[in-house]
Amino acid sequence: MTGPLILGIESSCDETGVGIVRGHELLANEVASSVDEHVRYGGVVPEIASRAHLEALVPTLERACATADIDLSQLDGIAVTAGPGLMGALVVGLAGAKALAYALDKPLYAVNHLAGHVAVDLLEHGPLPAPCVALLVSGGHTSLLMIQDVADDISELGSTVDDAAGEAYDKVARVLGLPYPGGPHIDRAATGDPGFVTFPRGLTGQRDLREHRFDFSFSGLKTSVARWVESAHRDGEEVPVADVAASFQEAVCDVLSAKAVDACLATGAHDLLIGGGVAANRRLRVLLTERCQQHGIALRTPPPALCTDNGAMIAVLGSEIVSRGRRPSDGDVAASSSLPVSTILL
Ligand code: KG4
Ligand code: ZN
Repeated sequence: MTGPLILGIESSCDETGVGIVRGHELLANEVASSVDEHVRYGGVVPEIASRAHLEALVPTLERACATADIDLSQLDGIAVTAGPGLMGALVVGLAGAKALAYALDKPLYAVNHLAGHVAVDLLEHGPLPAPCVALLVSGGHTSLLMIQDVADDISELGSTVDDAAGEAYDKVARVLGLPYPGGPHIDRAATGDPGFVTFPRGLTGQRDLREHRFDFSFSGLKTSVARWVESAHRDGEEVPVADVAASFQEAVCDVLSAKAVDACLATGAHDLLIGGGVAANRRLRVLLTERCQQHGIALRTPPPALCTDNGAMIAVLGSEIVSRGRRPSDGDVAASSSLPVSTILL
C-alpha cells in the first residue's frame, strides 16, 4: 500500500481518538473514552470531557505510534478535528496537533468532523463513488449529506431541526429506566412488538415533506414516549419495556431509512453510506438493507467500531486532502464549534 502517512487526532466530544493511516490503509486506531465519567449526569458534561482529553491525549498518541510501529518524524502530515463539536474539547485536540506540527515541522490539516465520518469508509471499502449520499446519525448530529468529493465537495441536504437521533435514544432510555448511553441498551431491549404503539414519525406529513423533505425531528417522538410511559405509571400499570423500546426504535429507523433512500432517489445517487454511533443499530441496518435493495441502491456500512468517533476517520480524511494537494491550515487556525459540513478544511 502507498499514500501519505498521516496522524489523525479527534477530540470533539467524549472520545480522545488517535489514528494513523498510510493512504487508505489503517495502521492504528486508539480511542480513550470518558463516557464512564458522564454516566451519572446522563449526558456529556463538556468540562469533564475537556479535562479527560487533556489527560488522555499523550498516552493515546503513544499507544497509536507503538501499534503502527512508526516514529512521529516519519509522518507526512497531521490532521485534527477543528469542528463541529464541544468548544473546550476541540481546543485540546487542536492545541495538541498544533504543538506536534510545530515541533516536528509537519503540515497541519484542521478538518471537519462530519467529513471524517464519511471518509472512514474508505478504510473498509475503498474509493467512494460520486455522487454518494451519507446518513450521519450520532449523539450530536443527524444529517443527510451529498458527497461529490469527500476531500473537497460536501453539501448538506438536510439535518435535524431539534434533537439528534442518538440524543433521542439516550433520552428515551432514561424514561424507560435504561442506562446511559441509551442507544445500545434500547437496541438490545427492543425485542417486543414494533407495532405495539404507533409513535409519531417526525417531518413526514405532506406539508413537512414539501418544506423539510430531508430534515428530521425527534423531539416530538421523545415527548410522546415520555407521555405514554407517564400515563402507564399513573394508571399503575407496568411498562412493557421490550414493546415500547421496539415501537420507539421503529419510529426512528423508519424515518431515517425512508428519508435516506428518498435522498438517493432524488439526487440520482446509487450509493448510500451510513456513519455515527446510531449507525451501529441493528434495526436500522436491517431496514436500510431491505429498502436499499428494493431501489437498487448499494449500502456501504463501515464496521461499528469505525462508526463511532475515532482518530482514524480524521487521519484518512487528512490523507485524502494531502493526496489532492490541498494547502495545509495556518498555524493560528481556530476551532469552530458549529463548523458547517461544506467547510472540509479550515
Ligand atoms: O458517534 P457517537 O459515538 O458520538 C457522537 O458523536 O455523538 O454516537 C453516540 C450515540 C449515542 O447517542 C448512543 O446512544 C448512540 O450513538 N448509539 C446507538 C447505538 N450505539 C450507539 N444508538 C442506537 N443503537 C445502537 N446500537
Ligand atoms: Zn461524531
